[in-house]
Amino acid sequence: MQFHWYEDPAALAGHAADRIAALLHRKPDAAIALPTGQTPLMLYRELAQRHRTGALSLAAAHLFNLDEYLGLPGRHPMSYAAFLRDNLIDLVDADPARVHLLDGASADPAAACAAHDRAVEAAGGLDLAILGLGVNGHIAFNEPGCSWQTRGHVVDLAEATLARHREQTGRGDLPKRGLTMGVATLREARSVLLLASGSGKRAAMAALLAGRGDPDWPVTSMLTHPDLLVLAEERLRRPL
Ligand code: GLP
Repeated sequence: MQFHWYEDPAALAGHAADRIAALLHRKPDAAIALPTGQTPLMLYRELAQRHRTGALSLAAAHLFNLDEYLGLPGRHPMSYAAFLRDNLIDLVDADPARVHLLDGASADPAAACAAHDRAVEAAGGLDLAILGLGVNGHIAFNEPGCSWQTRGHVVDLAEATLARHREQTGRGDLPKRGLTMGVATLREARSVLLLASGSGKRAAMAALLAGRGDPDWPVTSMLTHPDLLVLAEERLRRPL
C-alpha cells in the first residue's frame, strides 16, 4: 500500500492519469472500473485531453461503472451512466461494445448486477478499480456495515450518502437505493487506485490511516489489497 499526498488536485489527477496510461500501454484491453462524483472529474478531463493529443487510447479497454442509482435509466441526466458518458466515455475513443454500464432501470436489478459481474469475469477480471471515497467511507455504493464478501447487489443508501447527494445536486428527489459492484469483486481487482479528495472526508481518511479493517468504514476493506495506491489531498491528512 502506498499513499501519495497532494496540495494540488491537478497533480493528483495527473498522477492518476499516468497510472492509467501506463496500464493501457502495457495492456490496451485492460478492464477498468470507473467512479462517479466530483473526485474523478479532473482525472477524466486529463484522460480526454491525453486522448485528444493521441497520447492515450481507450479503444480496446473494457470500461465498467462501479455503481448506479436504482430506478434511473441510463438516459436520465442524473444517472451515473450519463455522468460517465458525458465526462469520459463520449470524449475518448471507447468502444461501445466494451462499455458496461449497470442498468439502474432494469425490472430485475439483482439480475442486472449479476450480468455486470459476468461481464467483469468475461473481461478476465478487473485490472484496475478506480475508487472514490465517500464521506462515510463507502466505496462505490458499499455502505458502512456491509459484507465484504459480496459481488454486485442492490443497496439501501446510507443517510450520509443521501445528504451528500442532496448537497451536491440540490435535488431531494434522487433514488434512495442503488446498484453496486461488491467489495469482493473490488478486492479481486489486480490493482486498486483510491482517489481521495473533497471536503468532509477526514474521518474516512483517519479510519484508513489507522490501518485496521473496520466494517464501519468499507474503504478499510482495501487495506490488505496487495496493490493499493492511495492518491489523496493533503488536507485530508490533518488530524480531526
Ligand atoms: C458517491 C458514489 C461513489 C463516489 C463517492 C464520492 O456516492 N457512489 O462512487 O466515489 O460518492 O463522491 P465525491 O467524489 O463526489 O465526493
